[in-house]
Amino acid sequence: MSKQSVESEFAGVVASSSNNIAEKFAGKTRVTIQWSHCSASAGVERLAGDLDAALPDSAVLVVAGCDGACFETPVVTVGAERYVRVTSDDISDIVSSLHDSEIETDADSQPFFDPQTRIALEGCGTLDAENIDDYISDGGYAGLAASLSRTPEEVIEEVKTSGLRGRGGAYFPASLKWEAARNVHNSPRYLIVNCEEGEPGIFKDRHLMEGVPHRILEGAIIASYAAGVSEAIIYINAEANLSALRMEAAVLAAQEFGLLGENILSSGFDLQVEIRRGAGGYVCGEETTLMNTIEGQRREPRLRPPFPTESGLWAKPTVINNAETLASVPFIMTNGASALRKVGIESDPGTKIISLSGIVNRTGVAEVAMGTTLRAVIDEIGGGPREGCKIGMLGVGGPSSGVLPISMIDTQIKGGMLHDAGVMLGAGGLIVLDEKVGLLEVMRNLAAFNADESCGKCTPCREGTPRMVDLIDKIAAGDGKSKDIEELEYLARVVNSASLCGLGQAAGNPILSALHFFGDEMALLTSDS
Ligand SMILES: Cc1cc2nc3c(=O)[nH]c(=O)nc-3n(C[C@H](O)[C@H](O)[C@H](O)COP(=O)(O)O)c2cc1C
Ligand code: SF4
Repeated sequence: MSKQSVESEFAGVVASSSNNIAEKFAGKTRVTIQWSHCSASAGVERLAGDLDAALPDSAVLVVAGCDGACFETPVVTVGAERYVRVTSDDISDIVSSLHDSEIETDADSQPFFDPQTRIALEGCGTLDAENIDDYISDGGYAGLAASLSRTPEEVIEEVKTSGLRGRGGAYFPASLKWEAARNVHNSPRYLIVNCEEGEPGIFKDRHLMEGVPHRILEGAIIASYAAGVSEAIIYINAEANLSALRMEAAVLAAQEFGLLGENILSSGFDLQVEIRRGAGGYVCGEETTLMNTIEGQRREPRLRPPFPTESGLWAKPTVINNAETLASVPFIMTNGASALRKVGIESDPGTKIISLSGIVNRTGVAEVAMGTTLRAVIDEIGGGPREGCKIGMLGVGGPSSGVLPISMIDTQIKGGMLHDAGVMLGAGGLIVLDEKVGLLEVMRNLAAFNADESCGKCTPCREGTPRMVDLIDKIAAGDGKSKDIEELEYLARVVNSASLCGLGQAAGNPILSALHFFGDEMALLTSDS
């Protein structure tokens, strides 16, 4: 391989994409419809058909993913004009706007976007999600070309310097995984892109797959090159059909453009990519369970060590990275490690995508610099609580994490623990709960989810998680005594410390955080308080 051959090969790819774009849009207006799983539930399929049929020959309809402002879905854009909550009745206005720039636009979304810093989500909602040319013309795959012009060790070093940590929940440095797998002399090596996302309140990987599938793919190719991987598997949740379609299309297009397969960009590097659908269930996102399901074994975790980088899929070295982690990699390799370090905080450079739901005015996915406060996400991006609502507590990080009282709203977003009572950032779910939602209801929901999703392999989690639900039910029915709260706390600690995998090891967190912050309120609910 030579740096020159990669660069000239890539220049050819960029030129070909630019030609394709120039031909497609010559003298035509670009009309973009955001088609994603959120807009699908608002009828975007029919809308897209109606819009396409109504557009004159002077316009081209482009299908993009959702830009994150799910509260406004479905969205159609014509140049700088942005039409929100569009129905088929609005189509004639949109068609007239092709000639009339005076038409009313949406002013509501700017406060949603302004406080964000977009790296992984950049271009989501504007780039054609089903055509590679848009992504390449927007600077896509330049990070891959830059990587292939360097040695794998240099790529690992660059990502190490950037400080990028995994966004799937454990926040382990991405570069160390790649290095560890590379240093194991056994082949083939595998990369698994973890797009399982089976946790309630998290929908950011779906947005990435549906909006910028090539960015995940580009990150996966770079990671594979760095770690010496020859086969990559993109593991997508069993229900995320649109995500799977867009990722499949991305893989095929990248193959056609010589960005995948043999001798990628004349670098001598070969990589095959396969899409696998998840087996269903939260625990399938846990990395060792995920590997078992790919191998056709039971949906249960494996003991660690050995860690996957040493002995993973089919006992071969395996790197497992979250989709968002990989989607942050092209930025680093295009702009350098220092560019990522300029965003976020010292311990956690870069951004985090937050899935924002609950009683705020503006719900959706938002990418913010690490270190941003929950308050900024809730008040500035989310627009605060809806009229008639008042925030009671914050559900942060999903069922493996816990709840925070409103007094903790100035907590900074960063990887790992946000509070040592068991509240962690996890994959970045933020559910803003109304004060009318009862503490026990929240605790029960989270505890019941963990009990339902427990795979049953180890006793503490299998027996402990339903017992926690029983105790909460007993207290909710008014039959609880103070000793039940003690037992609940004891059980949460035992399940956390004695369980085999991350599901059980964090299943006590919702209880422990609720007791820490709302213990007095809980005590009042017992009959001997
Ligand atoms: C119960 C459970 C579910 C998980 N689900 C996911 C998931 O859906 N997606 C994901 O990337 N990581 C998930 N993880 C974390 C993975 O085990 C693993 O740490 C991650 O994929 C590594 O990628 P990263 O280093 O890029 O974060 C889960 C962990 C547990 C314990
Ligand atoms: S902790 Fe729960 S999910 Fe994990 S192995 Fe044990 S029973 Fe299964």
